[in-house]
Amino acid sequence: MGRETFYITTPIYYPSDKLHIGHTYCTVAADAMARYKRMRGYDVMFLTGTDEHGMKIEESAKAAGVTPKEFVDEIVCGDGGVIELWKLMNISYDRFIRTTDDYHVEAVQKIFRTLYEKGDIYKSVYKGLYCTPCESFWTESQLVDGNCPDCGRKVANAEEEAYFFRQSKYADKIAELISDYLEPSTRVNEMVNNFLKPGLEDICVSRTSFKWGIPVDFDIDHVVYVWVDALSNYITALGYGNEKYNDYDKYWPCDVHFVGKEIVRLHSILWQAMLMALELPLPKKVYGHGWLLFDGDKMSKSKGNVKDPYLRAERYGVDALRFFILREFTFGTDGNFTDELFLTRINSDLANDLGNLVSRTVAMVDKYFGGTLPTEHQSAPEDDELIALAGTLHESYEAHMEKYAFQNALAEIFKVTSRANKYIDETTPWVLAKDDSNNPRLAAVLYNLLETIRICTVLLTPFMPESCDKIFTQIGATDSIASYNSATSYGELSKSVTVSKGEIIFPRLDIAKELEALAE
Ligand code: ME8
Repeated sequence: MGRETFYITTPIYYPSDKLHIGHTYCTVAADAMARYKRMRGYDVMFLTGTDEHGMKIEESAKAAGVTPKEFVDEIVCGDGGVIELWKLMNISYDRFIRTTDDYHVEAVQKIFRTLYEKGDIYKSVYKGLYCTPCESFWTESQLVDGNCPDCGRKVANAEEEAYFFRQSKYADKIAELISDYLEPSTRVNEMVNNFLKPGLEDICVSRTSFKWGIPVDFDIDHVVYVWVDALSNYITALGYGNEKYNDYDKYWPCDVHFVGKEIVRLHSILWQAMLMALELPLPKKVYGHGWLLFDGDKMSKSKGNVKDPYLRAERYGVDALRFFILREFTFGTDGNFTDELFLTRINSDLANDLGNLVSRTVAMVDKYFGGTLPTEHQSAPEDDELIALAGTLHESYEAHMEKYAFQNALAEIFKVTSRANKYIDETTPWVLAKDDSNNPRLAAVLYNLLETIRICTVLLTPFMPESCDKIFTQIGATDSIASYNSATSYGELSKSVTVSKGEIIFPRLDIAKELEALAE
């Protein structure tokens, strides 16, 4: 039998402009999850990509004086583009889909035709209120203060002949199942109260007002609504409706779609209805995460409060940025990103706590034993608490990771590193080192520190892969004892382990100076 599979997706991003730290948030979270599952032996499919059709892109391309395809190619593949950003952020995706890829286009046309032939898509006339930036039609009752309920911008009257998807037909089934697949539960209430209870309407799924989309192949004046096109990516990327890939049976249904809270509606209602109409299994989970806010506002280019991930990753290390966004904020709710918080967190957790623990420990092994511990170790009751904490850390860590509670999983690890720093103060190795007869005791103390560091580092690997490799090298942990299973048992490091002193992995920052530099 093959290994258990795990299929995880991020939203596919609009390449209408350069991506920012907000987009990085979800992708880093999905990457940490994918790495965690791989470490645990799963056969992982981690999908991300770009959502390249639609009026917004058509308009941006026109303004830039290029074709829509040239426009998206530059943002996706060009300098500082999406693919480069994911490389910089060390994103270990297995597949990258672009909705302009031929195989996807062909599959979406098939999906649209199948639904039409089945009667779940039909032709009619649309009269409604349209939000151009969101490319969504709304009814009067759905507006919030007269504006688009998703983005808060103005809507305008619009009318066109169009195809409709019989979403209403699946309303009851969605209402019945939504609490099984949608998390966190607060999002379920939002969907039920705002959309399901008022009654689901059929949704307009074709456009004639612009050209940059996938043509409806049996009625070429129409292009497929960008959300039907985009949502389909989760199955076309596996080979559904096309010959390019052959992974649908292996990975579908998806284990989890990570999506921002404003697109939960499309993933928990429209996407589910589409799958029901196609008679396909539903995703096991849709997880709606919160936004990174800046000064209490959503980060967005148009608001001019964008934080550049390149600048921060280059200055402080990719791992510091990856770590910070998952350590500081609860994934399911909004969090306010400030540079001060970012730099403070680097100093407190990475420099003072973990970094200091590693460098102190390695330096002591070096100084007192020339880098290699002697085999004779003498334990003492004061070791028990640290050993118990490190030895069982994986249990609470797993429980949080399985619930996508990254912040809590990381907090558990840092409880243990703090405890280890305190253990140094309690055991005072520098006093033990004064008398050679204490060597077995001193060796045991240093061993417990190295072993605690090793376990914490294994569990930190999904978050900070490169820095963790450096720590493993410094503490003398080879690949086999840096594996996930090795983190579930205490005492895997050789008693006569050899460390190698290296660079300071997380240097301490002068926060005031750095804030000034960032402001420039
Ligand atoms: O919505 N904080 O694309 P998109 C957290 N193409 N997340 C943020 C964020 C912030 N400040 N800013 C953006 C789309 N995001 C569609 C998706 S999927 C079939 C199609 C997140 O580029 C946002 O919440 O506008 C969303 O989940 C994602 O970036 C993509 O946004």
